[in-house]
Amino acid sequence: MEYHSITGTDMCVSRVALGTWAIGGWMWGGTEERESIDTVHAALDKGVNLIDTAPIYGFGTSEKIVGKAVEEYGRRQDVYLSTKVTLDWTNGGVRRNGSRDRIMQEVEDSLKRLRTDRIDIYYVHWPDCSRPIEETALVMRELYEKEVIGAVGVSNFTEDQMDAFRQECPLHLCQPPYNIFERAIENDIKPYCKRHGITLMTYGALCRGLLSGKMSKEREFEGDDLRRNDPKFQEPRFSQYLEAADKLENLARKRFQTSILAFSLRWIFEKGIPIAIWGGRKPSQMNTMDEIMGWSMDYAILSAVDSILSETIDEPVGPEFMAPPTGLEVG
Ligand SMILES: NC(=O)c1ccc[n+]([C@@H]2O[C@H](COP(=O)([O-])OP(=O)(O)OC[C@H]3O[C@@H](n4cnc5c(N)ncnc54)[C@H](OP(=O)(O)O)[C@@H]3O)[C@@H](O)[C@H]2O)c1
Repeated sequence: MEYHSITGTDMCVSRVALGTWAIGGWMWGGTEERESIDTVHAALDKGVNLIDTAPIYGFGTSEKIVGKAVEEYGRRQDVYLSTKVTLDWTNGGVRRNGSRDRIMQEVEDSLKRLRTDRIDIYYVHWPDCSRPIEETALVMRELYEKEVIGAVGVSNFTEDQMDAFRQECPLHLCQPPYNIFERAIENDIKPYCKRHGITLMTYGALCRGLLSGKMSKEREFEGDDLRRNDPKFQEPRFSQYLEAADKLENLARKRFQTSILAFSLRWIFEKGIPIAIWGGRKPSQMNTMDEIMGWSMDYAILSAVDSILSETIDEPVGPEFMAPPTGLEVG
């Protein structure tokens, strides 16, 4: 495993973080507790020491499973827990809520579910645009100064929103989407974070499974699986993304004798991102971890990836469909 120090903190975390949205079940067609706990343990066994979760992942389910898994593993002091705040489901539906009352309630709930007295990294999950960003930032600063949280992060923020946030609170990390197929941050968020010493911890490394090497046209998505509504998984785009993934797999096998999964994670690191979140829910999924570490790809390979994308995908689309309603629109 490779590790990275988070600027402005004393944390040194694994460059791969385990993502636990699917472990919460909601929007991923359900969950299985024992298998999920074993997945967390398998990741820890592989040297992962950073686990990313959120209250909204299964409305508390993911945090509860992560808390139980880390307690069972027995080395809480060696694990960094990252969770989030500001998505509110208490009045039916999901809305953004960055008010002081809601954040104070949520932090208490997350601490209980995670079975801990401190959250190592606390992210504002989505900006609540119904109120000034500074209002949310002040509450985050209060939690940071009281040492209830060890580092402050924001997720899905624009540069302007980060500017406003930083007026009132130190900002250590930023969590936007980033993978071979979803690269919007390259022009703005990535250089912004570099300029301001903010550590990037990006999500969606495998583009919801498209870059896993296991996706096919035959795959059926059950129940509330978000990929039933994901524009990348609808024709004619689905076939184009699968064809691009096939070509990337060939490139990875031919040049590095590795899987598209390992190649996709390594590509993120080669693009200058220090920490990538990889979402898993089965212990066997963690077996590929060792293949990601200790090698690099040159400029020719990075341009071969770009050529595959431009030759194969007519109308690329981002992950915007995942954005929850703003506080202004709902309740
Ligand atoms: N801040 C935010 O707003 C935000 C948004 C999205 C995600 N996140 C975080 O980022 C994490 C990762 O994002 P993500 O969950 O969207 O997905 P991801 O890492 O891009 O992909 C997860 C998918 O990859 C598949 N997969 C994983 N390991 C595999 C393996 N070894 N072999 C085959 N398939 C494999 C899983 O398959 P199965 O379906 O078969 O299990 C799942 O479909 C989340 O869990 C969450 O912690 C944050």
